[in-house]
Amino acid sequence: MIPQRIRELEAYKTEVTPASVRLSSNEFPYDFPEEIKQKVLEELKKVPLNKYPDPEARELKEILADFFGIKEENLTLGNGSDELIYYLSIAVGELYMPVYIPVPTFPMYEISAKVLGRPVVKVQLGENFDIDLEKSLELIEKEKPVLGYFAYPNNPTGNLFSRKKVEEIRDKGVFCVIDEAYYHYSGETFLEDALSREDTVVLRTLSKIGMASLRVGILIGKEEIISEINKVRLPFNITYPSQVIAKVLLTEGREFLMEKIDEVIRERERLFEEMKKIEGVEVFPSKANFLLFRTPYPAHAVYQELLKRDVLVRNVSYMEGLQKCLRVSVGKPEENDRFLEALQESVMFLSRSL
Ligand SMILES: Cc1ncc(COP(=O)(O)O)c(C=O)c1O
Repeated sequence: MIPQRIRELEAYKTEVTPASVRLSSNEFPYDFPEEIKQKVLEELKKVPLNKYPDPEARELKEILADFFGIKEENLTLGNGSDELIYYLSIAVGELYMPVYIPVPTFPMYEISAKVLGRPVVKVQLGENFDIDLEKSLELIEKEKPVLGYFAYPNNPTGNLFSRKKVEEIRDKGVFCVIDEAYYHYSGETFLEDALSREDTVVLRTLSKIGMASLRVGILIGKEEIISEINKVRLPFNITYPSQVIAKVLLTEGREFLMEKIDEVIRERERLFEEMKKIEGVEVFPSKANFLLFRTPYPAHAVYQELLKRDVLVRNVSYMEGLQKCLRVSVGKPEENDRFLEALQESVMFLSRSL
């Protein structure tokens, strides 16, 4: 009874290997301070656990609209942006119409399309991990995809695609989903386009700014688009506790959050400079909260050596064009120091033993 397209899929895997320095999932390195958590507990106590939440999450939407400088009618929420990616793959274009995905990138775009049986047009990134426009336009002409996913900045490469190239692809009739999961680390956005055009939406998430546990993703677009996507949305998809906690954290915790985001950006730049100094390590510039790097050694060997030193990173060498590459999330300064020391030792060890 289960069709082949589902049987061929692999369940989404995440890194669960134990380690004391965990830099594998691009999480925010800081939890909120005690006094803010206390406020969260007080608010949670008031939640009637026997009741459904507000299906529209109106109070949270009001706060999020203010946080992003937009109007409430221009956003809808998902149980993480993952859920919104599914909704977009369901709702944009007919299911037989292809989805354009520049790769390597965040795997959920392809997974959501495959679950629905949608054809996928994948185009390998070109120089500096930017979009290969020539090849893209050639394939777009041939395959006629109607929906495109652009992680901006891209995960796991960390760069921003050239805006002009995205626009050229959009000009060919591709509805563009600009996934700005790492927006707070790049400062670059397609928000204006999403608010003024019917062929562009922006995705944001609370996951990369300290609230991954809540599972709140945000879709931003013109009211006409948002109200259509809302018809696909599951009822009560944002839990009552998540709504309440996010409200407290985005108001009482806002100053803390902004300060720490700046610190992560500073640490990213420090990590980049320090990694460049390690012989044999090639590190790529990043506008996100992680860095992609390559060594001359097999990525699984580097991964294992780091793990022996109690540091966990993500081995991304299985992805298209990323042979020998790994990805490290920016942690607290002391975690980054532990990683740098472990990386230095690991490549030195591998240079002698392989
Ligand atoms: C580009 C990108 N989009 C979306 C997500 C998922 O976000 P969420 O936790 O909101 O589902 C991630 C998570 O790593 C990501 O890298």
